[in-house]
This record gives sequence, C-alpha cells and structure tokens, in this order.
Amino acid sequence: MSRHRYPQTEVDAVYRAIAERRDVRHFLPDPVDPALLQRLLHAAHLGPSVGFMQPWRFVRIASPTLRNDIHALVEQERVLTAQALGQREDEFMRLKVEGIRDCGEVIVVALMPDREPHIFGRRTLPEMDLASVACAIQNMWLAARAEGLGMGWVSLFDAAQLAQLLHMPAGAKPVAILCLGHVQEFYARPMLEQEGWAGRQQLDDLIFSDTWGQRQPR
Ligand SMILES: Cc1cc2nc3c(=O)[nH]c(=O)nc-3n(C[C@H](O)[C@H](O)[C@H](O)COP(=O)(O)O)c2cc1C
Repeated sequence: MSRHRYPQTEVDAVYRAIAERRDVRHFLPDPVDPALLQRLLHAAHLGPSVGFMQPWRFVRIASPTLRNDIHALVEQERVLTAQALGQREDEFMRLKVEGIRDCGEVIVVALMPDREPHIFGRRTLPEMDLASVACAIQNMWLAARAEGLGMGWVSLFDAAQLAQLLHMPAGAKPVAILCLGHVQEFYARPMLEQEGWAGRQQLDDLIFSDTWGQRQPR
C-alpha cells in the first residue's frame, strides 16, 4: 500500500462523493450560502488544465430577468433538440433536463477568449481547453455533493446567443449553465437511467488490451 495513501475514512469519502454525485434537475428554492459558493468555485479553480492555462471563466447570474432569459434560450434549444431526435421526440420532451428557474444559483461557465497562443498540449488537440473546463466543473460537482448541494450541467443552448446575452468578448464561449442548490434528495441512480432513457454500460466492454476491441485477459 502506498505510504501517501489517505486514511481509510477519507479514501471512502472520495469514492462516496464520486459514486453519489448526480446530475440534479430538481431543487429546493433555498439560497446558497455565499461562502459555500466561494468554496465550490475555489474547488473548480483547483482543477487540472492543459499547459496550466486555466481557461475557465464563471459568470454568476444574479439578475432574475437574466435567469428568465437564459431559461428561454434553453427552452428554445430543448424543442429543437426534441425535433432533431425524431422517433424519441415525445420521450425526450417528457424528461426534465434543467432546473434553471428552481435552483438557488445559476453559474454560466465559459471558455476564455484568446486561447490560440496556448499550444502546450493543444497544438494537435485544441479541444483540450474544453476538457480542462470539464475537469474544473467535475471538481465543483464532487465538492457540491460532499457539501450536500445538488448541481446540474445544462448544455442545451445556442452558445452564440448565450455569449451575446452575457456580453462576452469575441472568442469566449459558454459551455455550461450550472444549476446549483439545495435538494430534497439525490437520485439513487442517474435520472436518465431511472427514466429509461439510457443505462450504464459494462466497464469491461469499454476497456481494451493493446488493440481496439481486444478484451483484457482475465
Ligand atoms: C458535458 C455534459 C453536458 C450535459 N448536459 C445536460 C443537459 O443539457 N441536460 C441534462 O438534463 N443533463 C445534462 N447532463 C447530465 C447528464 O445527463 C448526466 O451526467 C448523465 O445522465 C449521467 O447522470 P449522473 O450525472 O447523475 O451520473 C450533461 C452532462 C455533461 C457531462
């Protein structure tokens, strides 16, 4: 066993947060303590990033009007997504895919502008900036679960329209509308699984040995 290992109760807590983190869309209207919000944003800011570029920017939505405008953008995209799904349109429309008007806090996360000079780890894979932002969001998600708050990542929106609404500079790109807040309960399983939309795949089917598609020797 590694001498750097945390005590067992702390190891258990890390795995517990990973297992019990959920994408949440049902919230209580209670406000989020500003100090707690700051801790969560700090957790996000400790995330890994390609070339240490820290491409994340956070816009806290304080204005109720703006929150409604953001909700309208998501609703517009929800309908377009449903239409694009064809056969599953009605099933999709019955899903709850956001909690923007119900949650305590809405945070928009965006990629910073002027990312082009950052080529360390991005010369062939420019999307690593987005991967870095996702790492920050995952930190926040796990910290929120440990703090007892729910969080949902909403990506049903037209990025250009949201950027315009929030007066983002050219080159900045919103990638997440985060709904954050207190909850009655955490879903036991992913909501999309509970609703029969999709199920978790078998890990063994996703791990290959040496060659794509070749199963690991047991
Ligand atoms: C990049 C990203 C974007 C997502 N966008 C949405 C979304 O727009 N609406 C939604 O209901 N869930 C969204 N989700 C949540 C997923 O549906 C959810 O993570 C998945 O069903 C597994 O559930 P779990 O997070 O509770 O484990 C998003 C998740 C990720 C990682």
